[in-house]
Amino acid sequence: MYTAKESEIKEPISFTGNTWVPVPYRITGKKTESKHLLTLTMEPAGEESIAPIAAGQFNMLYVFGVGEIPISVSSLDTPHPTLIHTIQQVGPASKAINSLDVGDTIGIRGPFGTVWPVGAADSKDVIIMAGGVGLCPLRPLIENVLSERDRFGEVNILYGSREPDRIIFHQDIIAWQSDPSINFHITVDHAFSHWRGNVGVVTQLIDKASFAPDNTVAFICGPEVMMRYGAYACMDSHVDERNIYLSMERNMKCAIGFCGHCQFGPHFVCKEGAVFPYSVVRSHLNIAEL
Ligand SMILES: Cc1cc2nc3c(=O)[nH]c(=O)nc-3n(C[C@H](O)[C@H](O)[C@H](O)COP(=O)(O)OP(=O)(O)OC[C@H]3O[C@@H](n4cnc5c(N)ncnc54)[C@H](O)[C@@H]3O)c2cc1C
Ligand code: FES
Repeated sequence: MYTAKESEIKEPISFTGNTWVPVPYRITGKKTESKHLLTLTMEPAGEESIAPIAAGQFNMLYVFGVGEIPISVSSLDTPHPTLIHTIQQVGPASKAINSLDVGDTIGIRGPFGTVWPVGAADSKDVIIMAGGVGLCPLRPLIENVLSERDRFGEVNILYGSREPDRIIFHQDIIAWQSDPSINFHITVDHAFSHWRGNVGVVTQLIDKASFAPDNTVAFICGPEVMMRYGAYACMDSHVDERNIYLSMERNMKCAIGFCGHCQFGPHFVCKEGAVFPYSVVRSHLNIAEL
């Protein structure tokens, strides 16, 4: 399994081939995770495939004649060139992707973007904080960490979902809950009568985590406001802001730093991110609707 080096956070992994032209992939598996959220497994439809993708990176998924959207790799549990992506249906392109069937063809460009810097957490305690669909980009990182569990100190996975019905990756959650080598905590914003677990925002779970603040690295992904308060929660617990990483989302068109659609302050999210050190984006995270 691929493990990122710390230096790789600074620039995208180089990729080969024509990054403008989508490579045809065939859908070979389709799994419902929750209402409006599906995991698709894809294999190259012909001889050509994209370069291997790493935890934190994304591909552009193109439904012919409808549109193209950025989607993170959501598992690295299958060997290259198989791809696994989990897509929430929010608008035309994501709806079109989720209505594809096994056997249908989709276009893939990528991989793009920076990786989660797993190497930065070597010998350190780890906090992985996910809000909602933010668990998708973080799941390959969790797979990496658990596949080399001895490299790290305490491993804390904190996951918040809006409602119990929106919880995804049930099999992984059952495995994480029963794994004595990690501290897994889950919460929902709004509970139903059958829910017996934590209720409240995911940032509150930091109080249940076990870590030495001066020797901890945090990886955060979710809605922007959640990431901001997630970083505050870590820093309130005395985690150094230089050890906090998060993954930004912006509308994308080219994904290779040409069109400017993904601009976030002085940064192009497609090229300099989507995974950023918190210290790099901190000042712009406070500007509403940037
Ligand atoms: C680097 C990166 C990685 C991403 N990874 C994933 C992933 O793994 N899985 C995934 O499901 N999505 C992911 N996204 C988000 C995904 O790209 C968008 O949901 C998608 O572009 C929406 O396109 P659309 O044409 O379906 O809807 P649009 O027409 O673009 O949007 C329709 C409506 O939904 C709203 N909307 C758009 N995006 C979102 C969103 N993310 N959440 C809630 N509402 C939204 C819009 O404001 C609009 O009101 C990622 C985005 C980026 C930048
Ligand atoms: S999407 Fe075109 S510059 Fe980032």
